[in-house]
Amino acid sequence: MQLSANRVIGAEITRLDVHALDDDAFASLDQALLRHQMLAIREQRLTPDQFIAFARRFGPIDLHVLDRYWMPGHPEIYVISNIVEGGRPLGNPREGFGWHTDLNYFANPTAVTLLYAIEVPPEGGETLFADTARSFAALPASRQAELRGLRACHSYRMLHESRPWLPPMTPEQIARTPDIHHPVVRRHPRCAREGLYLCDWSNTRLELADETEARRLQEELLAHMVRGEFVEAHRWRAGDLVLWDNRTLIHTATEYDRERHRRLVWRTSVRGEVPIAAH
Ligand SMILES: [Fe+2]
Repeated sequence: MQLSANRVIGAEITRLDVHALDDDAFASLDQALLRHQMLAIREQRLTPDQFIAFARRFGPIDLHVLDRYWMPGHPEIYVISNIVEGGRPLGNPREGFGWHTDLNYFANPTAVTLLYAIEVPPEGGETLFADTARSFAALPASRQAELRGLRACHSYRMLHESRPWLPPMTPEQIARTPDIHHPVVRRHPRCAREGLYLCDWSNTRLELADETEARRLQEELLAHMVRGEFVEAHRWRAGDLVLWDNRTLIHTATEYDRERHRRLVWRTSVRGEVPIAAH
């Protein structure tokens, strides 16, 4: 395994086959993920079963709310794609836009997300990551103290309503996604990092008595969190397996020309712990 660290977040890994890792090699990779927060492992060739088996080494897999984009026969894999075959979309063509952290609307949000790229556009479609621990550390101490006591409401219902092209939620989806409250300053359970656990206003609402002030403050914080010095872009190649720790990172998809280029990406989401407030 050869590892080369990025400028802000993450590392590129080459000369590694993830489906052939013994326990010691997996432990090294897990430590690298803890240290760098995001790993881009190049040139992988994985079957659905191999991808799922590798993801399970990090913990139990959560199935996505939108069951229409589950891979047939492999519900653990959520398919992101603009490809239509035989009149049927292979996956969700518009997934992951807007700064967020994965499955934040669950009581146990995603710890680790894994994306495996089979086809990628030759330009565009980068994934951006922002380090929420570095942005939190850069805030004045008085602002940090004020934020430590706050919580935010995370809502799949709000997220769904912000995507009018989706069909209405089914009773099962509604039952699975009650609104959830998480601390705004989250402590990583495995290291000393403390980060801002916030997404944009489409699905996350800072809980203050004054909603106008809540929105203003949340937007101010988001703008701070995604300043260039805290952000890294991943430029995709076919065969990339990218995994990241959602506890102290937020991320967003970026546009590509969906009319001209094909994109096919598999995703699995590893369930994490109930977020721990930093005090
Ligand atoms: Fe995401």
